[in-house]
Amino acid sequence: MTIWDELKRHQEAVKDRAILSLFAQDRAAEFSARIASDGGEMLLDFSKTNIDADAMALLLSLAGGAGVEARRDAMFAGAKINETEGRAVLHTALRNLSGCVMVDGQDVMPALRATHARMQEFARDVRAGRFTGQGGAITDVVNIGIGGSDLGPVMATLALAPYHDGPAVHYVSNVDGAHIHDVLKGLDPETTLVIIASKTFTTIETMTNAETARRWMAEKVTDPAAQFAAVSTAADKTAAFGIAPSRVFGFEDWVGGRYSMWGPIGLAVMLAVGPEEFDAFLAGGADMDAHFRSAPLAQNLPVLLALVGIWHAQVCGYATRAVLPYDQRLLRLPAYLQQLEMESNGKRVAMDGSDLTIDSGPVVWGEPGTNGQHAFYQLIHQGTRVVPCEFLLAATGHEPDLAHQHRLLIANCLAQSEALLRGRSLDTALQMMAAKGLTGPEQDRQARHRVFPGNRPSTTLAYPRLTPFVLGQIIALYEHRVFVEGVILGINSYDQWGVELGKELALALQPVLEGQADGAGKDGSTRMLVEYMRGR
Ligand code: F6P
Repeated sequence: MTIWDELKRHQEAVKDRAILSLFAQDRAAEFSARIASDGGEMLLDFSKTNIDADAMALLLSLAGGAGVEARRDAMFAGAKINETEGRAVLHTALRNLSGCVMVDGQDVMPALRATHARMQEFARDVRAGRFTGQGGAITDVVNIGIGGSDLGPVMATLALAPYHDGPAVHYVSNVDGAHIHDVLKGLDPETTLVIIASKTFTTIETMTNAETARRWMAEKVTDPAAQFAAVSTAADKTAAFGIAPSRVFGFEDWVGGRYSMWGPIGLAVMLAVGPEEFDAFLAGGADMDAHFRSAPLAQNLPVLLALVGIWHAQVCGYATRAVLPYDQRLLRLPAYLQQLEMESNGKRVAMDGSDLTIDSGPVVWGEPGTNGQHAFYQLIHQGTRVVPCEFLLAATGHEPDLAHQHRLLIANCLAQSEALLRGRSLDTALQMMAAKGLTGPEQDRQARHRVFPGNRPSTTLAYPRLTPFVLGQIIALYEHRVFVEGVILGINSYDQWGVELGKELALALQPVLEGQADGAGKDGSTRMLVEYMRGR
């Protein structure tokens, strides 16, 4: 019998057990883990799940058997663990800038340090008004990028709003002209800096928006290219676009797009918060790396978070996972994690090309609390499907004069995980209805609508405050969680072939829409939709 079989058998045996009953023994300390660092203490509480000591022992042997530690060490050492693209996976080097990491017999760190120093210098020049646009100091930065060249920087810029003392930063990602139109509409081209952020510098959305931005700037600025910077692995293409090498910040193909915000792709964030705060963000990521590399699996936060994920998605079969930050500034964390987790672990074959015999990663979704409470929590509490919830919560906010609001936020977050755990029985609901004067069948009918099954699992990641350092810890925690889940599933978390087919078909459809090609070979539905679009 495999460990998967044992896990499934165990889950079958305990699936009707009330999680609340597990608290008859004090389990909070056992089923939680902490890491202490310069940023204070971070606490991962996974005690409100149905994982017991037996399940945890099995999950840990799953991780051990999958070779998580060896694979982790290989990743940090620069081995080519992205086997389908023949690449190393070294985003961790972007935040651990000292030391030496060899790829193809060459130490890659001097080049990383040099680029980091150039980014810092450029950011300082822009922020101090030494680098100017035609109309003077830069007031606005527009980052044009999509996917990994957008979601991380957008998420971090919002998260670090209290530290934002540089120019206003705007993001354009969608090829929908509405996006760039609405962003550029309020800006002065003479004091705007445009960053084209694209690992490949071929992504159709980004290159189309870049051309639009250049035309917009050329209407008022004599030398528009002088107000463009580029972030890419493709120096030849940035040069062809006309951007001077001094404003091109390169990186290597061993940094995956969705893992790239630690390096040049984070330039817009560095411009917003300054090099020092950006370095604090890197230090937080490096701190989580050090923990991930050294803590025993049973106390290792990324490993534990991954094992909880595996338990819920692959063992219990819950198809989705909700990420619920009770931290308004983590508004875009769920969207960021959607790419990180679903592009990394949404695969159907194992590393060797064989079909997966277990489910791949779950659907990840979410919204900040308390907003979500007034929208979709109804389903989470009373729907027929179980949605494991992952709460994130800071002990303190950045607004001391609004501390009472922060306490209310905390109370709501803790109340939700408690409500999910406890639920409300039919007996209690009947008593509530009786207190309202209802009797007989009506009392029963009304009571049934007010029953909460409870027994719904959640985890809570608690941290002192959302500082740059803590944000770095959180993002690195999730990156390593994805890595561990990927190793356990036996997949390659670092390619994304699943995004290619749609891109190819879109390219082929463009001439059809423009009437330069017919829709021969297209299905009837696509032909009908093309006809509809062309007729208007
Ligand atoms: O289409 C998916 C993807 O390749 C992502 O993996 C990537 O983050 C995004 O497109 C953008 O790619 P690029 O940075 O090369 O423009």
